[in-house]
Amino acid sequence: MVLAARAAKKKGVQTFVWFNYRRCSAVAFAHRLVKEGKLGRIFHVRATYLQDWGGPETPLLWRFQSDQAGSGAHGDLNAHLIDMARFITGDEIIEVVGAIEETFIKERAIVSAATDALASSSKLKGAKVPSKGSGKSTVDDAVLFLARFKHGAIASFEATRLATGNQNRNCIEINGELGSVKFNFERMNELQWWDHTLDAKLRGWSRIMCTDAGHPYGGHYWPAAHVVGYEHGFVSQAADISAVLGGGASVVPLPDFEDALKTQCVLEAAIRSAREHRNVPIRELDKF
Ligand SMILES: NC(=O)c1ccc[n+]([C@@H]2O[C@H](COP(=O)([O-])OP(=O)(O)OC[C@H]3O[C@@H](n4cnc5c(N)ncnc54)[C@H](O)[C@@H]3O)[C@@H](O)[C@H]2O)c1
Repeated sequence: MVLAARAAKKKGVQTFVWFNYRRCSAVAFAHRLVKEGKLGRIFHVRATYLQDWGGPETPLLWRFQSDQAGSGAHGDLNAHLIDMARFITGDEIIEVVGAIEETFIKERAIVSAATDALASSSKLKGAKVPSKGSGKSTVDDAVLFLARFKHGAIASFEATRLATGNQNRNCIEINGELGSVKFNFERMNELQWWDHTLDAKLRGWSRIMCTDAGHPYGGHYWPAAHVVGYEHGFVSQAADISAVLGGGASVVPLPDFEDALKTQCVLEAAIRSAREHRNVPIRELDKF
């Protein structure tokens, strides 16, 4: 990853990474609000990506095998949170300050390669599948960590596949001196906004439907409040990539190999912190 990012920069080659949640209009709008100074100084970033499909009934899919998946909830879910946090705040994580990792389900049923290939994890959930004994899960089921940003904000991150009752709760809350934003992917068209500059008796969370033509990507789909879905983030990213390749500009910044490397460094710092019980500065890993 370091070599690929370095080579791309040296040759001036444009690269792209599918951190598609940047392309939810509400997330892109939060990025714009921060950039316009609407939140002021940022104090807190609170990010949780909670899923619940990884219970004991789920077999030993490729996602539970470290030689194929790399890691579990950490690389799958915390990676998206780290990118969203960097993207919205425009700031960099400089240190991981404590982390915890857990594999709750140590053994899972072995299924045939064909079953693994044909049925995604969600389709297998609760289904009776022919099993050939059990094997060891070699990835985390959950990883939580705390972090510091360069400009002083402090952050918490939590990714898990065992948060029963939370199917795809990809959430981020950012608290600033002048205001706060909250996003929950399960209501992906909406951004919650708190204006702290208002008179105290007028303050309250407002729910902004980010589908107006004035919102990022809003004018590219349907009329206001004719909501969009998961796939539209990918469509918007493909459109942005095409625009950049054609010499134009993306609606909001596209993530590239350097962004992926920065995310990877934070992921690795969290794992070192969890396993070695220490704070891990990102400069220990970032050799870019
Ligand atoms: N950016 C995102 O939001 C996002 C979300 C989900 C998944 N992903 C990524 O997308 C990828 C796929 O995830 P998924 O949930 O769809 O997995 P999945 O297990 O549901 O599907 C994987 C598919 O790949 C096929 N496959 C496996 N090996 C193959 C090969 N050698 N040649 C051709 N096909 C092969 C399998 O048959 C299966 O249909 C993963 O890398 C995952 O991390 C990204």
